[in-house]
Amino acid sequence: MDELVKVQNLTKIFKSGLVGGYFTTAVDDVSFDIHRSEIISLVGESGSGKTTVGRLILRLLKLSTGKIIYEGVDISTLKGRKLRDYYKYVQGVFQDPFASFNPIFKVDRVFDLLFDSYLKDKTDKKHELIVESLEKVGLNSLDILGKYPHQMSGGQLQRILIARTLLLDTKLLIADELISMLDASTRVDVLNLLGDLRDKEKMSVLFITHDLSLGYYISDTTMIMYRGNIVEFGKTKLVFDNPLHPYTRMLLSAVPEIGRKWKKSELEMKRGEIPAGGCPYFDRCPLAMDVCRKKPNLKELEKDHKVACYAAEVMTGDSIQIGKGHNN
Ligand SMILES: Nc1ncnc2c1ncn2[C@@H]1O[C@H](COP(=O)(O)OP(=O)(O)OP(=O)(O)O)[C@@H](O)[C@H]1O
Ligand SMILES: [Mg+2]
Repeated sequence: MDELVKVQNLTKIFKSGLVGGYFTTAVDDVSFDIHRSEIISLVGESGSGKTTVGRLILRLLKLSTGKIIYEGVDISTLKGRKLRDYYKYVQGVFQDPFASFNPIFKVDRVFDLLFDSYLKDKTDKKHELIVESLEKVGLNSLDILGKYPHQMSGGQLQRILIARTLLLDTKLLIADELISMLDASTRVDVLNLLGDLRDKEKMSVLFITHDLSLGYYISDTTMIMYRGNIVEFGKTKLVFDNPLHPYTRMLLSAVPEIGRKWKKSELEMKRGEIPAGGCPYFDRCPLAMDVCRKKPNLKELEKDHKVACYAAEVMTGDSIQIGKGHNN
C-alpha cells in the first residue's frame, strides 16, 4: 500500500469570543498517513477532535500549523482550479444526509450540479452514468430519480451521496459519523458498501466514529484520538487484540455487550489536573506516573502498532527515555 495523504504535525487552535477570548486546541500535533485502498477509522469520544481532522483535510477549516500532503502536494496552498480538482478526489459525507440536500429540489439536483461543474464533457452520457453509479451503491434509479429528499430514507440519501463520489472518481472519502442516524440493518449495508468501494474502486476511507465496534468491523487501521491527540494507532486487529493505551482499554471495556450488566468502567477515574505539557490522559489514568508529566510521543511498541504511553512502554518491556527514541 502506498500513501495517498500524509498528515504531518497537524494542529488546529480555535479562538472563541472577541476581546480576551479563549483558545481551544482541537487537534494537537497529529501525524498519520492514509494509504490507497485503506479504510482507516478515527475513534474517540465527543470533543476529541475527530471532525476537526476531517474538516481540515477537506479544507473546510484553515489549519493552524502542520501540513496535509495529498499525492505529494501541500493542499493548504491550493487555489482556484487546483482546489476544485482536489474536491474531485477528496469528498466528505456527513452524519445527517438530509442536511446535504435542498428540500425544495429533487434529489437529481446533486447530480445536475456535478455535471454542470465537473463533468461537462460527459453530459451526453449523463443519465447512463448516474444509473450506473446508483447501481454500484445498490440503488435502482427508478426508485430514486425524480423524487424529493423527504421521500427518501436516510440510508438511501447516504447512498446517493456516495454514488456522487463514484462519478467523480473520488480517491478519499471522509465519512464523518456516516451511519449514526441509520437503523441497524441499513448500517450493515452501508458499512459493507464502504468495504466494496475499497476493494473494487480502490477508494480510501477516513471513517470517523465514536463507536469502537464499528471501527473494528470496517477498518484496516485504527487511530484512537483523545483530547486532540492520537494516543494509539495501528492495524485494527493489533489495536483490538492487544490494546496498549489505558484509554483504549477503557473504551473497549465500555462497549456494551448483550447479557452483561453495563457499568461505568473501573478504569475511568478522575485524578485532578493535567500538568501543563503532560500526557492528555493524566487526570483519568490509573497508571499515571511522574514521568507522564511530560507528554509521551507515539512510539512503535510492536510492528504496525504505535502508542503514546510510558506505562505501555514499561508493560511491553521498552525502557522509558523521555524525549529520546520516540518517533511519530
Ligand atoms: N468552530 C469552532 N469554534 C470553536 N471551537 C470549536 C469549533 N469546532 C470545534 N471546536 C472545539 O474543538 C474540539 C473538537 O471538536 P470536534 O467537533 O472536532 O470533536 P469530535 O471529536 O468530532 O466530537 P463529536 O464526537 O461530538 O462529533 C471541541 O472542544 C470543540 O468544542
Ligand atoms: Mg464530530
